[in-house]
Amino acid sequence: MNKKYFEHIVHGGDYNPDQWLKTPEIIDEDMRLMKLANVNSATVGIFAWSAIEPREGEYHFEWFDTVLDKMAENGIDAILATPSGARPAWLAEKYPEVLRVNENGIRNEYGIRHNHCLTSPVYREKVREINRLLAERYKDHPAVKMWHISNEYSGECHCELCQQKFREWLKEYYHNDIEELNDAWWNGFWSHKLTDFSSINSPKDRGENHVVALKLCWKRFTSEQHISFLENEIAPLREITPDIPITTNYMRLYDGIDYQKMAEHLDIVSWDDYPYWDRGNNDYACCENAFNHDLFRSMKGGQPFFMMESTPSIVNWHNVNKIPRPGRTELAAMQAIAHGADSIQYFQWRKSRGSHEKFHGAVVDHCGHENTRVFREITKLGKNISKLSELTGKGYSSKVAIVLDWENMWATKFFCGYNNLKREYAKKCISWYAPFFKNGIPADIIPMDADFSEYKLVIAPFLYMLKDGTEERIKNYVANGGTFVGTYLTGVVDKNDLCFLKGLPAGELKDVFGIWAEETDSLPEGMENSAEFGGKSYSVRDMCDIIHSTDAKVLGTYEKDFYAGEPAVTENEYGNGKAYYVAFVSDDDFNSAFCKKLIEETGLKSDADFEIPAGVDVRRRGELLFILNFAPGETEILLDKEYEDFISGAKVSGKTVVPECGYLLLR
Ligand code: GLA
Ligand code: ZN
Repeated sequence: MNKKYFEHIVHGGDYNPDQWLKTPEIIDEDMRLMKLANVNSATVGIFAWSAIEPREGEYHFEWFDTVLDKMAENGIDAILATPSGARPAWLAEKYPEVLRVNENGIRNEYGIRHNHCLTSPVYREKVREINRLLAERYKDHPAVKMWHISNEYSGECHCELCQQKFREWLKEYYHNDIEELNDAWWNGFWSHKLTDFSSINSPKDRGENHVVALKLCWKRFTSEQHISFLENEIAPLREITPDIPITTNYMRLYDGIDYQKMAEHLDIVSWDDYPYWDRGNNDYACCENAFNHDLFRSMKGGQPFFMMESTPSIVNWHNVNKIPRPGRTELAAMQAIAHGADSIQYFQWRKSRGSHEKFHGAVVDHCGHENTRVFREITKLGKNISKLSELTGKGYSSKVAIVLDWENMWATKFFCGYNNLKREYAKKCISWYAPFFKNGIPADIIPMDADFSEYKLVIAPFLYMLKDGTEERIKNYVANGGTFVGTYLTGVVDKNDLCFLKGLPAGELKDVFGIWAEETDSLPEGMENSAEFGGKSYSVRDMCDIIHSTDAKVLGTYEKDFYAGEPAVTENEYGNGKAYYVAFVSDDDFNSAFCKKLIEETGLKSDADFEIPAGVDVRRRGELLFILNFAPGETEILLDKEYEDFISGAKVSGKTVVPECGYLLLR
């Protein structure tokens, strides 16, 4: 879980000198301003293809050489981007196959970004070629410290090349046996039996869009195409620059790519962090943001990750772009570091003058000088994070895990039945994460195929789909002493969305939980049931299983409807461990009360030996204790002992006030 690539916390962001080549004095000014802002890194070359190769085979690396040389002279590290996220017009005109085809079979025109076929051999070759040239030219350049591959991979393509590839993919997945696919997809239904793989197309509204197994396979395929596109991009880089680490920037819980799988192909996981601050509910925003950080930290076994983008002020793509409170950027940056980030980076260093993102926040505004609130904030933040070098490379893992799995995210979205309006898989995972977050207990976020054995407690909300082997792994985990929590609709279908027969939850999970789930009720908006647990009544909304205890101890029961008095929360001893079943969509209140019991039983430790007020994130990383105040107004902490304030060096103890948007870094 420890992996060190940099000696200091990387501070910088997306930098596009390619937009300012006609005003070289601005590039010189950037160097002065970067040093002034305590910025030590800049990500260059994202979307720079037309500046590097304006016509096919005509390369202009001079400007790039100059910029990188200047960066090296000024002590600014370069994170070198590959330009595949957008392409020059000539490329699309000469090789139309590189453009994406939408689900209606219409090829996009040239424009926007991404917009490329994931399969096109021409595009893959062109990308490999330009990446090879970049690697060869800059392999020994002193400024270059890391590769940033493309930018926010996303989307899908329905062209004939992709359809062909999809059919090949299916052939492999189903062992070249169409009857195996027919069985797996239950194709006897509606007379869908196929005789050949060639009949299959990508799912779409005007074609097949009801077969969940097809939709799951298309997601898996598209995700794997992104990964193979990445592998194609990095092949020349691994060959020419084997020592330069590779990353690509993720977008939160973007569901088009199985990020957990893609992480295996990267040295460092990076993500672009744009929370909705100051919209009236920072409590939720700070918990959700913490969850995301922990998700990305967990992707490489607790290893530090990069926060590759964030805005130093506003974005331009919310409906209404509110300026976050002064201090918010620094507080959010400290939260990222506390949760394992080795970088604080911005989109963007300098605001572009024209086109789509000219009103997106940047460290350097259109006025072009340093006398702005934002510039001053970034400068102060840069100074403070420059003191945190001792943390770089230090990751950590936790003793409690929440299972969030990309394939289950797809499956819980696609099936038709029960409550078709309220699924919100990721939100449910966050709601189960929240009690640990509020108590200062770090949690890992892991896929269902991760190793459970190191955890004292594993909570798998809404684990509707079980991949091959998952049932066995849960069973072994509990038998060997683990504590496992399942909820409503657990273990309902296999990876093909085929329902398990002989009672739910699947197979031997019935013994593990000591229950049988017979029916699932769905509650329309505005209708509620309730469940009694520990002497209190908690609301039951959206969906709930009607279960029977076969062996389990009943800890809570429903209070209304024809299933009043039936079990809603159960506990079962199995082997050396315990399995709990929470049969309904529970809210934050229930999860808090229930997790309090779990925390006590499993002996999970908080990072704080003091009471944590609402809206405060407490996290230990290395020797440092971060206390981050996201609450409205100042907050008071009663410290358990004397600490040293890491920034000021002062001694602090007892009652300590943390200002609004403020934080303490204690040793
Ligand atoms: C994304 C992209 C950037 C930029 C920002 C704007 O994260 O990677 O290129 O468009 O959004 O917020
Ligand atoms: Zn395609």
